[in-house]
Amino acid sequence: MFYQEFVHQQMLLPTKPKGQLLKWVGNKYRYAHTITSFFPDRYNTYIEPFVGTGAVLATLAPQKAIAGDVLVPLIEILRLLQNEPQTLIDYYAKVIRSFNQDREKTYSEILKRYNTSPNGLDLLILSRTCYGGVVRFTREGTMSTPIGPHKPMGPETFAAIVMEWKERIKNTIFLNKPFTETISMAREGDLVYCDPPYIDSQSILYGAQSFDFAELIAQIQQCKSKGVKVALSIDGKKKSGTKTIKLEIPPGLFEREVYLSGGSSMLKRFQNEGREMIGEDIHERLLLSW
Ligand SMILES: C[S@@+](CC[C@H](N)C(=O)[O-])C[C@H]1O[C@@H](n2cnc3c(N)ncnc32)[C@H](O)[C@@H]1O
Repeated sequence: MFYQEFVHQQMLLPTKPKGQLLKWVGNKYRYAHTITSFFPDRYNTYIEPFVGTGAVLATLAPQKAIAGDVLVPLIEILRLLQNEPQTLIDYYAKVIRSFNQDREKTYSEILKRYNTSPNGLDLLILSRTCYGGVVRFTREGTMSTPIGPHKPMGPETFAAIVMEWKERIKNTIFLNKPFTETISMAREGDLVYCDPPYIDSQSILYGAQSFDFAELIAQIQQCKSKGVKVALSIDGKKKSGTKTIKLEIPPGLFEREVYLSGGSSMLKRFQNEGREMIGEDIHERLLLSW
């Protein structure tokens, strides 16, 4: 039975982390509460094959988890968070101090260093200082977003977020692997949450070129046949619901579909050079296999 629900963000449960580790447009930080509220009460291992900035993982704070991503610097950040949180805190404090003294110079140095040698520490700073948190990569993998006009979060606030997130992700094994490898680790009784790269407007943000949706569907089918529950986030409706993204999803694979309403999109505003998009409303869609 396939039924639809419309869920507004006001329904959020009180377990959200106090702030985001990375400022990253398109991540699931503001939806994570609602998304996790649809997860079952009981499961063995929680598996997240497209962990990204870890927003859903950190909100769930699972007892036992495996999380993967192909973007090396992201996994570096999450591993540092788990094993060397002080390194993140110290680096942030040092670089933000020099950023606040000479913004343009510090930003261009970090951007250059990251693009020469991609690494987690510089990606962290770029995500916190770039324009609107629009972390954008070219096809070659270089980061291209200009500096943002805002004052970045202070080092003390950032340190408090690190310590909170460290606790929330302490039971997770992080893998720098394609989703096919991470998802294939799921066993009966496990829960998988997939937030693949956006197929529509955000493909550029998350390197969607390495991602095959049909392959993901095949993996989800296998999970279901093994007794694994799967939740899948996909791009929902755009332009206030007039355009629905068409994706080939076999009938019967998912039992429920949830629309999450989230207001207008920062990405659209950025692409329109700061102009407000009237009538734009991105709806997140969540499909549940149980
Ligand atoms: C939409 S983002 C996930 C965002 C995440 N839910 C969050 O809140 O930050 C998709 C992620 O999938 C990763 N990705 C892209 N192709 C992948 C692949 N083939 N296997 C694993 N991860 C992949 C990207 O690096 C990106 O971090």
